[in-house]
Amino acid sequence: MKRETVIVLDFGGQYNQLVARRVRECNVYCEIYSYRTDISKIKEMNPKGIILTGGPNSCYEPDSPTYTKELFELGIPVLGLCYGAQLMQHVLGGKVEKAPVREYGKTEVLIDRKESSVFADVPEKTICWMSHFDYISRIAPGFEITAHTADCPVAAAENADQKLYAIQFHPEVLHTVEGTKMLRNFVINVCGCAGDWRMDSFVEESIKAIRQKVGSGKVLCALSGGVDSSVAAVLLSKAVGKQLTCVFVDHGLLRKNEGDEVEAVFGPDGPYDLNFIRVNAQERYYSKLAGVEEPERKRKIIGEEFIRVFEEEAKKIGAVDFLVQGTIYPDVVESGLGGESAVIKSHHNVGGLPEHVDFKEIIEPLRDLFKDEVRKAGLELGIPEYLVFRQPFPGPGLGIRIIGEVTAEKVKIVQDADAIYREEIAKAGLDRSIGQYFAGLTNMRSVGVMGDERTYDYAVALRAVNTVDFMTAEAAEIPFEVLNKVMSRIINEVRGVNRVLYDITSKPPGTIEFE
Ligand code: XMP
Repeated sequence: MKRETVIVLDFGGQYNQLVARRVRECNVYCEIYSYRTDISKIKEMNPKGIILTGGPNSCYEPDSPTYTKELFELGIPVLGLCYGAQLMQHVLGGKVEKAPVREYGKTEVLIDRKESSVFADVPEKTICWMSHFDYISRIAPGFEITAHTADCPVAAAENADQKLYAIQFHPEVLHTVEGTKMLRNFVINVCGCAGDWRMDSFVEESIKAIRQKVGSGKVLCALSGGVDSSVAAVLLSKAVGKQLTCVFVDHGLLRKNEGDEVEAVFGPDGPYDLNFIRVNAQERYYSKLAGVEEPERKRKIIGEEFIRVFEEEAKKIGAVDFLVQGTIYPDVVESGLGGESAVIKSHHNVGGLPEHVDFKEIIEPLRDLFKDEVRKAGLELGIPEYLVFRQPFPGPGLGIRIIGEVTAEKVKIVQDADAIYREEIAKAGLDRSIGQYFAGLTNMRSVGVMGDERTYDYAVALRAVNTVDFMTAEAAEIPFEVLNKVMSRIINEVRGVNRVLYDITSKPPGTIEFE
């Protein structure tokens, strides 16, 4: 393996990415693989340690995910979490059964073996996150119990000689107060990792590797102005300068002034050395979208049109050697290549790859990074903070924040309302603490009164959610006076709006975006 790596074997648990992220927070590089990964591949990778994740099954059922016993005989330290812990015990001769009491939520764990390497510096009583209906009723030979709870006799067990550790709870979840410390203890103390995975060295190594790969070749990058493509573009420009051309398609569905902001950073007056092409395709998009109301159809049109515009520009440039993609690690995992998680977000990459662009190879410089690491790399590269900490913005843009038909007039309304909303949220100091927030336009018009006039105008919907992973979300509790200020400014300053609604729907059952 290229770097010192710990691998996570995914047994279908919902926290698989979280485990890898926590390990990386300990400055140890970590990758996720499916439990179906063959032992020969693991041997070849020769990781410093292996972590088995949780999962929804019962390990004693015949069809449940399992792993060959050989995994525990490689001499590589193994940490099993929840299902992974039970599986380790089951495979090595312990017993797992349905628990008399199901444990769920924050639970007090009592550490029995203070000298345990994974519990170094952990207090004797500590709160951990439990979520299991099976339990280890008898530990495997060679193991000893290292922690218990009131209802669970084996909250943790280990065979320190063999460097095998089983933990019933979830150290990766923040509710486990000492969880990160336990994971750090495992990867540093038990696995002997140096902990030298850092963004400055990532940036340096990547620039060198890109230079070597690209040589004197030509590189083409589709720039959206979002965090991932911006970081990828800057990385490439630092590596190969003017050999890079960035194409920025303004589809007219961007936030207010966003097109100009992107141009200010990446265009000829900005600090970077690259070729920048802005395509003003607003009218083209609006005419394609005229009369279209169905959300999936809108998404499809926007995605396809993007590819078409991009291809036309690429044709003007001629053959290139490399095409840059801003793929990040969660995309890799969620597209089913990393762990076990199903293909949930295939629609999230606008349109896929252009077919008619003449290139030899794809470069994905951020493929190994989680979002927070992309941001750190961005800061390392000197990209302005407002760009690095930009909230997620979907590829189809305002097209999916306008319910029903998209028109230039409606885009203007959403842009203005959204700009006011963002301004007031920032003024109230809430911009970094809310996961994602924006204004959308409902397709609803209703009666109001302004001055002495009867109005019949649109209702703007404000959305603000807190979320860890964007798979689930809760409405953010914005102080009423802030909402009130936003409402009155939108009604007064944005023509065509006479009502402002606050969407308090969580996800599920709602989605974050409106379409
Ligand atoms: P939903 O609406 O599915 O959104 O709850 C979850 C997160 O994904 C973003 N999102 C997209 N991002 N292309 C993207 O690049 C898309 O088509 C897309 N749809 C949703 C959304 O903004 C939220 O952060």
